[in-house]
Amino acid sequence: MLTLTQEKPTVNHAELTAWTDEVAALCTPDRIRWCDGSKTEYDELCNLLVDKGTFIRLNPKKRPNSFACFSDPSDVARVEDRTYICSKRKDDAGPTNNWVDPKQMKQTLLPLLQGCMKGRTMYVIPFSMGPVGSDISQIGIEITDSEYVVVNMHLMTRVGTKVLQVLGNDGEFVKCLHTVGAPLNPGEADAKWPTNATTKYIVHYPEERAIVSYGSGYGGNALLGKKCFALRIASVIGRDENWLAEHMLLLGVESPDGKKDYVAAAFPSACGKTNFAMIIPPKALNGWKVTTVGDDIAWIKPGKDGKLYAINPEAGYFGVAPGTNEKTNPNAMATIARDTIFTNVAITEDGDVWWEGMTKEPPKNLTDWRGQKWDPASGKPAAHPNSRFTVAAGNNPVIDPQWENPNGVPVSAFVFGGRRSTTIPLVYQSSNWAYGVYLASTMGSETTAAAFGEVGKVRRDPFAMLPFCGYHMGDYFNHWLQFGRGLPAPPRIFGVNWFRKDADGKFIWPGFGDNMRILKWIVLKIRGEANAVESPIGWMPTYDDIDWSGIDFTNEQFDSIMDIDREEWKAELLQHVELFEKMYDKLPKEFIFMRELLLSSLWRSPAKWSLEPERIDDGDED
Ligand code: GTP
Ligand code: SPV
Ligand code: MN
Repeated sequence: MLTLTQEKPTVNHAELTAWTDEVAALCTPDRIRWCDGSKTEYDELCNLLVDKGTFIRLNPKKRPNSFACFSDPSDVARVEDRTYICSKRKDDAGPTNNWVDPKQMKQTLLPLLQGCMKGRTMYVIPFSMGPVGSDISQIGIEITDSEYVVVNMHLMTRVGTKVLQVLGNDGEFVKCLHTVGAPLNPGEADAKWPTNATTKYIVHYPEERAIVSYGSGYGGNALLGKKCFALRIASVIGRDENWLAEHMLLLGVESPDGKKDYVAAAFPSACGKTNFAMIIPPKALNGWKVTTVGDDIAWIKPGKDGKLYAINPEAGYFGVAPGTNEKTNPNAMATIARDTIFTNVAITEDGDVWWEGMTKEPPKNLTDWRGQKWDPASGKPAAHPNSRFTVAAGNNPVIDPQWENPNGVPVSAFVFGGRRSTTIPLVYQSSNWAYGVYLASTMGSETTAAAFGEVGKVRRDPFAMLPFCGYHMGDYFNHWLQFGRGLPAPPRIFGVNWFRKDADGKFIWPGFGDNMRILKWIVLKIRGEANAVESPIGWMPTYDDIDWSGIDFTNEQFDSIMDIDREEWKAELLQHVELFEKMYDKLPKEFIFMRELLLSSLWRSPAKWSLEPERIDDGDED
């Protein structure tokens, strides 16, 4: 017998009623609950997760109102090879997405979905991406059989009855159906982390603005407002309506004279967005302040004044835990001091959390992310490398006062950066919009634990959007070019790389708070208050153009992460061709010329081009 566990709100929206009825009939849950987004609901479901053994309540003296959980070892990251863009035409998904005909995909999913919620509760979550009622915001309804998803959605999005009120009788919404794919027979005990260890599908129907996710309970696979909606579906809506949905953090920079600029930056997964978004400038850079608008996703629209305006569609952070500490990201540590859900971190004997990089010495008697007593000699990490915290953005001590402004914040610059141990310099500026689009399109990055698969290989990750673009990547490049043509004074575009290594494999650049030195140059540069010189690949600051107060970083060290190695760059350009060849039929003509220009400036350049002419290495060739 199907029961409603909560009073159902009045819904006069025929399409919503029909869809929820249809899903209930197909998935046959034991119970249905419409989520109201209240604190009572959050507390009740967290308690239920504690009772089920999924959540461990952390020591309230150490970590008030916080929980930890361990996922199934088969369910620790996004599964890119199980992610599909099911547009009607294969050509609309393009060469970088998995595509299956939508009719065929529906036939595949139908038997999996039949009875998939048996023994469970079906939750209906009305949520808004962006401030409720803002013109830029979009509404979604996620149906899920996972309490973990409900409480995470409470933190990551704006959930509740107020969203249904905005939706009204005939408002548009994105249909998001999620199931862990683990039906329960009567009397069958539930797993602590229900999942389907063998079958996972993360499916998008861009034309229908619909998402179906089967078999995973983790992060971007299950919190469907995030990558699935706010990037893959939203990128398609943005293409159709002339705006951008991007994998970008958004931050505000204020200089000592009180002038403020907003910067949007795209780095691939686990490459430093959350860190950069909450950066604390070094004390020696007196009076510079940074505030956070968002740490992962930006929706960007042209305003009537010709400027670009951006909002963060999310309401919380699903951040990488390992590496976060009081030195690297004190603001993140303050944010997660309370009211936080931790997934796959280690637990201390006094009921607090720990991960690699939190402290130099691990505390004794840790429970690892598999729920076992951790053996420091095992060589295995105590926390999973993709372990995460979920926390409401309001906890961030440096949240920008404008972060919920329904009109967004004006964007002055775009920054793109991958994780590259060689080749790409610490910072450079593109000479114009088209070259900036080229720079972002050809970005490469060494893969991380944030996506299921091989770690440490360089792959092309255009705009950090490779796993997140809901349509043909070639069309996406053209959309960016066309978008810029419509702007009277488009934002400046920069490339950065915090990750260059020395011969011993150590990072040369201190990174983290010191990235502020580069951000300061970027902001002064766009204001016309900083210098740069021309290099074979764009504009670059010399050593003297960067503020080195309070740090001992030599001209030679700087040179070693700013030089341009001709042979490495030629190899880099060959990899650009490999990317272009994949999308030949839709490749913007600008890209061909851009690459030729780069090649012609590089092939006669010194073996090692340097900002300091006396350090240029001419090599042994002519
Ligand atoms: P997603 O949430 O997956 O999109 O990731 P993100 O881009 O927000 O990554 P995050 O800021 O959480 O950083 C992930 C990892 O990068 C952590 O292990 C950090 O320690 C490391 N990291 C961040 N900034 C820097 C930096 O400036 N230098 C170095 N060497 N590592 C950094
Ligand atoms: C990413 O991988 O870029 C993330 C984490 O932000 S997830 O939500 O799992 O996609
Ligand atoms: Mn991300």
